[in-house]
Amino acid sequence: MTFAKRTNWNTAPNALTQALERIKTAPDFIDLTVSNPTLCGFRYLAPALLQGFQSPQNLLYQPDAHGLPEARQSICAYYARRGVTVSPDQIFITANTSEAYTFVFKLLADAGDRVLAPAPGYPLIEYLAGLNDLTLERYPLCDRNGWSTDLKTLAGLLTAETKALMLVHPANPTGNYAAAEERAALIDLCTRFATPIIADEVFFDFAWGPQDRFESFASNNRGLTFTLSGISKILGLPQMKLSWIVVTGPEALRREACRRLEIISDTYLSASTPIQNALPFWFGREEAICGEIRSRIRENRALLEKAFGTHTRIKLSKGSGGWTSVLEMPADKPDEEWALYFLENFQTALHPGYLFDLPAEKSYLVVSLLIPPDKMHQGLGRLKLGLN
Ligand SMILES: Cc1ncc(COP(=O)(O)O)c(C=O)c1O
Repeated sequence: MTFAKRTNWNTAPNALTQALERIKTAPDFIDLTVSNPTLCGFRYLAPALLQGFQSPQNLLYQPDAHGLPEARQSICAYYARRGVTVSPDQIFITANTSEAYTFVFKLLADAGDRVLAPAPGYPLIEYLAGLNDLTLERYPLCDRNGWSTDLKTLAGLLTAETKALMLVHPANPTGNYAAAEERAALIDLCTRFATPIIADEVFFDFAWGPQDRFESFASNNRGLTFTLSGISKILGLPQMKLSWIVVTGPEALRREACRRLEIISDTYLSASTPIQNALPFWFGREEAICGEIRSRIRENRALLEKAFGTHTRIKLSKGSGGWTSVLEMPADKPDEEWALYFLENFQTALHPGYLFDLPAEKSYLVVSLLIPPDKMHQGLGRLKLGLN
């Protein structure tokens, strides 16, 4: 027998994963890559959060292809707090963001069709596109004193055959939001080619500057737009499994997209009733939860700025938000060698840039901003020491 070609992944451990296996149990190991908020010592993860499960409604099964109405209303209220008006019939609840991507891919593209995604970017996109039999093409983000879309190159890649343009707002791992001008240019381009936008906004609420304000793609009605988000990041609850798609765009197109998405979603109905019923309760704690995560990432970002903002050998990429930061290392070692060097000599784990398709001609490491600040402080001290 043979397995499907789409599963022919290279899963052999490389030098870095082998070293990590050996070193991760060392008593002084510091993991600067942790991105699971349930392992980062946050106070919001208290038993009181489980009170959201007390509703007797959890004993009923009332399937709805869009997701339960009260949960969808609480998602609309989330957007209203950000100045965006959407109605519950524009929302589809899914079990996670990967499923949301899959539903939108199923809606827009057939096997072999082209979709565009940013590079550097979110590593899972390649798997999601592959599992849906899509041809993934990359458009570049460039670091010009802060990362942004290379609009000229993107314009040359978009064609009437492009089935979707993906973007992450703010981007992972580079931390750039599509600022007003870039957002307008992206929307113009996609409108010109009638290309639907898939905007992943899971990190939208994590701006590093307290005064910074950005606009969600959920307010775009010029062309068909699918805005994805979920509670794994915005409420720091990845174990609960709830995400959504907001469908916006010209009314007739939007309605047709929703009619088709209803059938896709009805085929799976994977978001559980208790989690959907708990959503309004959790949103009631949004300020406390998101506020605590935001202060953590701002504190860690400030530590990074202090350590490497004006460093002569490591350049900290400028950015505006998200859960990660990018360090440009001296080019005398490739990224994997830097990661191995810190792991083996300083028991400190960092992600090499290639995991996120950061440009190979330079050497990048990626750091998580979720780790407890005392560990961050210690870890950054080791990075400095390693360069002396
Ligand atoms: C850009 C981006 N989108 C989506 C996700 C995953 O979201 P979920 O846990 O809802 O599938 C991640 C996880 O790291 C991410 O970085």
